[in-house]
Amino acid sequence: MCGIVSYIGKKDPVPILIKGLRRLEYRGYDSAGLALLDGKSLNSVKKAGKVSELSDELSVSPIKGNCGIAHTRWATHGVPNDINAHPHLDKSGKIALVHNGIIENYDSIKKTLEKRGVVFSSDTDSEVLVQLISEIYHNDEGQLDFKDAVKAALQEVVGAYGIVAMCSDEPDSLFAARMGSPLVLGVGDNEFLFASDASPIIEYTRNVIYLDDGEFVEVKNSAYSISNIHTEEIVSKTITKIDLTIEEIEKGEFPHFMLKEIHDQKHSISDTLRGRLNLEDGTSMLGGINDYLPNILEASRIYITACGTSWHAGLIGKHLIEEYARVPVHVEYASEFRYRNAIIDANTILIAISQSGETADTLAAIKKSKELGALTLGICNVVGSSISRETDAGIFTHAGPEIGVASTKAFTAQVTVLIMLALKIGRKKGVSLHRGKELISSLKEIDTNVSKTLETIKLVRQVAKATCNADNYLYLGRGVNFPVALEGALKLKEISYIHAEGYPAAEMKHGPIALIDKDMPVVFLAPQDETFLKILSNIEEVKARGGIIITVTDEENDSLNSLSDYVLVTPKSHRYIFPITSSIILQLLAYELAQFRGCEIDQPRNLAKSVTVE
Ligand code: M6R
Repeated sequence: MCGIVSYIGKKDPVPILIKGLRRLEYRGYDSAGLALLDGKSLNSVKKAGKVSELSDELSVSPIKGNCGIAHTRWATHGVPNDINAHPHLDKSGKIALVHNGIIENYDSIKKTLEKRGVVFSSDTDSEVLVQLISEIYHNDEGQLDFKDAVKAALQEVVGAYGIVAMCSDEPDSLFAARMGSPLVLGVGDNEFLFASDASPIIEYTRNVIYLDDGEFVEVKNSAYSISNIHTEEIVSKTITKIDLTIEEIEKGEFPHFMLKEIHDQKHSISDTLRGRLNLEDGTSMLGGINDYLPNILEASRIYITACGTSWHAGLIGKHLIEEYARVPVHVEYASEFRYRNAIIDANTILIAISQSGETADTLAAIKKSKELGALTLGICNVVGSSISRETDAGIFTHAGPEIGVASTKAFTAQVTVLIMLALKIGRKKGVSLHRGKELISSLKEIDTNVSKTLETIKLVRQVAKATCNADNYLYLGRGVNFPVALEGALKLKEISYIHAEGYPAAEMKHGPIALIDKDMPVVFLAPQDETFLKILSNIEEVKARGGIIITVTDEENDSLNSLSDYVLVTPKSHRYIFPITSSIILQLLAYELAQFRGCEIDQPRNLAKSVTVE
């Protein structure tokens, strides 16, 4: 939530910062702003709305400087307006700061500062930090330099932050710190960038340092030094080479990142599988967890924790792991799990699933489980992310950068990893070679099946056109396809603002059936498996009440055809491939519905891609 980018070097910072903000806009788009140091003068421009508003403003009233900090906001404290936009300046106008995170004790600090006469201009928690730095810096009778003042202020705040600050008394310097919110330092040739992720950096350098909690960076006169926030101790860090390409973070010929990412699934699932399938032995090869396999095999219980779409992948993972590995799996929202007294001990495995690897609640759940002795495994998409570094071991999904706020290819990659993990454990625990080979063979056909699934787009568009004025949508599935129903409903809510619910198909009779009338589209996940006839009865029940029936199946059937208003067919494959292919149809449906309703698909209202606040 919120994106930070800053630059110091020989180039004009403005285009670098604006481009960087555009890349980070997925993290929040309530307002944007930047501040530049031009020798000893500090100038800033801030605008409510998207980065384009800021860019327009700068073309009318340009500012210049030799280094700068910039921010795109997802509002927490204070409405999205120009004043609450970052950067925030202190009362002297000499210090500017951008902040991602939440200062939890801002209110008490604010009251103390107000008593000392500080007048605040915004409603944000972030302004409190810059005013606190200023108070310390200006009131120490010259005892502290700016760096020490920033460090001293950070001792007083409670909460999460990634910050970059600058001061007009230190014209060739940037100061940054991380506690709970991600921050990456790009180390170029006589130029340095800070950013919330590596995407604004890659055009200038491939050398990055992922900062850890409690680290403070000073960049001064073309050199950087990293120290502990609380002490003078210098921290030595390794430079990582990033291999992200520009093409991967741009939408190319597609009108939206979401559509591009839906189509990326033609290869992102097999990218996740690459080098990990062993057909001969009917198993998978997951190097990242090999050392911990004995602990995994002996575990008495597994918790899967995640948020949003990743939690839905976790629910599918429960079916898979219990089916193949025969170990109890509990799937928990990270935000609930971290605060309850779950039974966690040395025989517990915690699997944390996260696209971004930065979700605050998921990260906190990992830390808690580690403290209680559990082995923690991560399923993450972003290499170098906090969750991938905090967990004991893990398996990366290789879906590539996901920029659309609605998660698509990350979800199918997560399910793919969970299939491989379940099979890996299962084969060690006695699942037959035949069953293993059967699943591996189906995984090997995934690209073809995804491509065929994407051919449903024309029919999906017809469904969307016919139902785009609906106020509600219901998604129903059974067993492993119930989480697919939940995911379909979440996709629709996020990007089209149609209220949608996912339910186990048989549960419909226990309440939601009351909602059904001729205006209610109901999506049934109806593969030809052992529950097919039961689903058919559920479809009859909706038909009898006049609902609009949209069926997603893997084999056409006369009864289905006659009962359904629309039938969307994915290729027939293994029963555990259907959750992948059917969810792609539901992604397309959400996309097309949002298009017909004229919604902002990649940046839906109120949302941000990476939820780094609790
Ligand atoms: O990065 P994560 O996977 O940890 O994010 C979790 C959720 O915030 C995320 O899946 C969210 O629900 C998506 N916007 C759904 O499309």
